[in-house]
Amino acid sequence: MTLANLSWFAKYQPQKIEEYVFDDPTHEAQINLWLKEGSVPGNLLLSGPPGTGKSALASVLIHNFIKVPNDFKKIKSRSVQEIDELQSFVKSRPIQSKKKIVLLEEIDKLSATSITTLKDAYLELYQSNTTFIATTNYPNKIEPAFKTRFIHMSFSGKNIEGVTRRCKDILISENIVFNEDDLKKFIENKHKLGLRNIITLLQVNSINNKLDFSNINQEISNSEDDIINNTLSIYETLIKSNNINDKRLILFNPLSSSISAQYGFILQTIQFSQDLYWDNVFMEIYEKTSFLPIKHLAARYLDEVEIKKIPSVHFIAFLYESIKSIIDLY
Ligand SMILES: Nc1ncnc2c1ncn2[C@@H]1O[C@H](COP(=O)(O)OP(=O)(O)OP(=O)(O)O)[C@@H](O)[C@H]1O
Ligand SMILES: [Mg+2]
Repeated sequence: MTLANLSWFAKYQPQKIEEYVFDDPTHEAQINLWLKEGSVPGNLLLSGPPGTGKSALASVLIHNFIKVPNDFKKIKSRSVQEIDELQSFVKSRPIQSKKKIVLLEEIDKLSATSITTLKDAYLELYQSNTTFIATTNYPNKIEPAFKTRFIHMSFSGKNIEGVTRRCKDILISENIVFNEDDLKKFIENKHKLGLRNIITLLQVNSINNKLDFSNINQEISNSEDDIINNTLSIYETLIKSNNINDKRLILFNPLSSSISAQYGFILQTIQFSQDLYWDNVFMEIYEKTSFLPIKHLAARYLDEVEIKKIPSVHFIAFLYESIKSIIDLY
């Protein structure tokens, strides 16, 4: 495969720290300091939704810090055996780099046994030899005692200015004609999708070297946002409604009640979307509602989502309880 027919997000994976969009200026200052020093003083946990730059940052750091391949190890299977076998790697001194690095992607998928091994045997004991760089989409799934062994940086893609600058650089490199105001508006609306998705949208909508935004806004919607907005809209409908029969219907047969449109849309979104970022759904509902019983429920369900086998069923249970909390009051 040549560079020309790669997807843009792969082609433009940051090679240098200058190409990386930081979410937060404090992260930027911190990382630049470590780059100057040649190592991370501890272990690093990078968390956030898909495509916000966790692996990209890890990769820039590894390229800068690792001087010989033998000073680096990427965990592949996360099996108990693979974690056990790390022992000899983390114990020995680095060959040429200041510190060795172990990259552990999707750390939330580690088994309890592996977490115990890491926590009790490796993370602190061998800090002077080895830095663990871990990534996750689900920081809330990680046991607090384990998490405190890391310096935690969480990303949300909120640096609109930085994202816009990066997109402009890519479009210019690709010789794409675009309208700057449209680009700004697009990124303001969609930055939460993460840079990977944003770059892909720019690529698929750049036809004959011209970026055409006319299809973008209808084409994409963020499933988590759809669920959040429809849930909030259900609450609003409920607060306004004073029809007793409808309230019954809402609990017993929501699809033929006054919330049928929003409820149907939520079910459909859940059915057709994979890998929804449920932490975000509960967190935003928590933030966007002022109704205390719902805040309380959202916080509780957010806490529990990590141990649920089927998070969508967990969400429907939340929806039921939150609807009931409004009906009970009004
Ligand atoms: N903060 C960023 N700065 C520059 N480029 C980025 C950034 N975030 C994402 N990208 C672009 O998107 C691509 C994918 O990003 P990356 O692989 O780092 O995402 P991720 O956060 O690890 O996602 P996942 O949770 O799916 O593993 C990168 O190769 C890069 O082109
Ligand atoms: Mg990644």
